[in-house]
Amino acid sequence: MDISYYDKFSKVYDWLSPKWYYHNARNHAIQQLRLKPGQTVLNIPCGTGQNFEYFQEYLKGTGSIIGIDLSEGMLEKAKDKKAAKEWQNIQIYREDATQVDTNWMINNFPLSTKVDAILCDLGLSGFPQWEMVIDNMLELLKPDGVLVIMDWYLPIPSLRGEFIKWIGGGEVNRPIYQYLANKVSDFSVNTSFNRGGVFVAAGIKK
Ligand SMILES: C[S@@+](CC[C@H](N)C(=O)[O-])C[C@H]1O[C@@H](n2cnc3c(N)ncnc32)[C@H](O)[C@@H]1O
Repeated sequence: MDISYYDKFSKVYDWLSPKWYYHNARNHAIQQLRLKPGQTVLNIPCGTGQNFEYFQEYLKGTGSIIGIDLSEGMLEKAKDKKAAKEWQNIQIYREDATQVDTNWMINNFPLSTKVDAILCDLGLSGFPQWEMVIDNMLELLKPDGVLVIMDWYLPIPSLRGEFIKWIGGGEVNRPIYQYLANKVSDFSVNTSFNRGGVFVAAGIKK
């Protein structure tokens, strides 16, 4: 999908996708990150920054939150949230998720190229080359680092699936958590969110 779609969607995103809608899934996803004060978490795609307040419950303003997204419009909303709360530990980057690899980290964070945890929420169903993005994220983790993925999985064609595809521009039948299962240790998945349409999968870097 053309990213200009999200530049426009950003104006109403938090209204059409309010906190309560994904709260249970997000809350569970961020618990799975097992964040401790002082740690670094990468969020791809960070969108309008809806996760920031959840991360801060664990980080309490310490450590580092790196938010990456391709849409300038979505990032403007994320920057507004950061400014409103005067959060100093958040860094926001405009980048294509498919480009975020070890070289990208070396160029942007030469002193610290690995992170403790990564959350990829509602992104992989829309990214091209989604398997490669998972592989790259695993490369960016420290030993024992945690990767958590939250996304839609509706393998059987349905009106609901068509609606989610239409509004979010993603493919809701990709075997994302099945792919992750083979790549990590301590794999877990909970498929119970949003009436069974949204999963949260987690694993530790092997
Ligand atoms: C459904 S939103 C999810 C945003 C956020 N994670 C959330 O849960 O609210 C999908 C996001 O993916 C971003 N996006 C789409 N294609 C991208 C790409 N190739 N690289 C980085 N971000 C991308 C969009 O700009 C949008 O913010």
